[in-house]
Amino acid sequence: MATTLTINGQSHTVDLPEDVPLLWVLRDEVGLTGTKFGCGVAACGACTVHIDGEAVRSCQVALADVWGDVTTIEGLGTPDNLAVIQQAWIDNQVAQCGYCQSGQIMQAADLLANTPNPNDAEIDDAMQGNLCRCGTYPRIRAAIKDAAQKLQEA
Ligand code: FES
Ligand code: FES
Repeated sequence: MATTLTINGQSHTVDLPEDVPLLWVLRDEVGLTGTKFGCGVAACGACTVHIDGEAVRSCQVALADVWGDVTTIEGLGTPDNLAVIQQAWIDNQVAQCGYCQSGQIMQAADLLANTPNPNDAEIDDAMQGNLCRCGTYPRIRAAIKDAAQKLQEA
């Protein structure tokens, strides 16, 4: 079935079964491999993208159920113009292996859009579904606070 999605501001028409998860559409069909497969059962957050600005697990959203514009890590900023949160991730040297970090950043961007100055409990609550086997949680928290401060100064 032909379905047209808006992904990172661009229109893409794909011809796939309507129950294909958005994650596979993004990675295998559109070639946006920044979004990662971790568990496939909504248990890790590696596949987090935004639909109409809301963080969602793309492994759990069927193609037919995509209700709005999709943003992936590639659409949050560009190499020449990183989003504030992406720059904060670099400044705080958050990534270790990096596998979980696209999802972490997309989840954190959703948090900051709704809670501009989150405290530790609010960060932990928002980020609890995004797992990091490398244990970068303290740096994730620091980067979120850094980004929050820079966004408020901007
Ligand atoms: S791959 Fe989607 S939550 Fe783990
Ligand atoms: S940086 Fe390795 S899993 Fe998070």
